[in-house]
Amino acid sequence: MTTLAIIWYSRTGGSQQLAEAARKAAEEAGGVDIRFLRAEDAGPQDLLEADGYLFACPENLAAIAGVMKAFFDRTYYEVLGRIEGRPYAAIICAGSDGENAKAQLERICQGWRLKRVADTPIVNVGAQTKDEILADKTIGEAELEQARELGATLAAGLEIGVF
Ligand SMILES: Cc1cc2nc3c(=O)[nH]c(=O)nc-3n(C[C@H](O)[C@H](O)[C@H](O)COP(=O)(O)O)c2cc1C
Repeated sequence: MTTLAIIWYSRTGGSQQLAEAARKAAEEAGGVDIRFLRAEDAGPQDLLEADGYLFACPENLAAIAGVMKAFFDRTYYEVLGRIEGRPYAAIICAGSDGENAKAQLERICQGWRLKRVADTPIVNVGAQTKDEILADKTIGEAELEQARELGATLAAGLEIGVF
């Protein structure tokens, strides 16, 4: 069966809620096998065995969160040249910006020659003070819907082979 890998990292729950919303919508779309993987648990084999990808993570210190970056660092050369052309989408969760993480993630995927099949949403949680940043996040319905759309789009597209 065609496989969608959803690979995510989250510290205060925002990216996790987005990844879970995408997962649920992809499951409801049906027709694809979904692998839901924390970035710390994911490796090159998971990338090789999937037909498409959804990456979800926060921006931390104007970059992809370190755990997610470590996943890319660990897998980049292992799969380079072996996943070219496969579809992906991504979601960035950010306190107030997110642009650098988005650019960085898209650059990595461009290096892999993956095919981005949707714009990368930046979900801004409006956290700028220490207390806001360290608090558990609750993602709003409109942003969850964006994540659902990405999950459903990837699942449906993979199933019928439009990418
Ligand atoms: C160490 C640290 C650095 C951060 N740096 C940024 C940043 O550079 N830009 C930004 O928009 N948000 C930044 N944030 C805010 C997070 O992106 C935001 O809290 C987001 O909700 C985290 O996602 P998560 O809930 O999935 O962990 C930072 C948070 C932490 C903990």
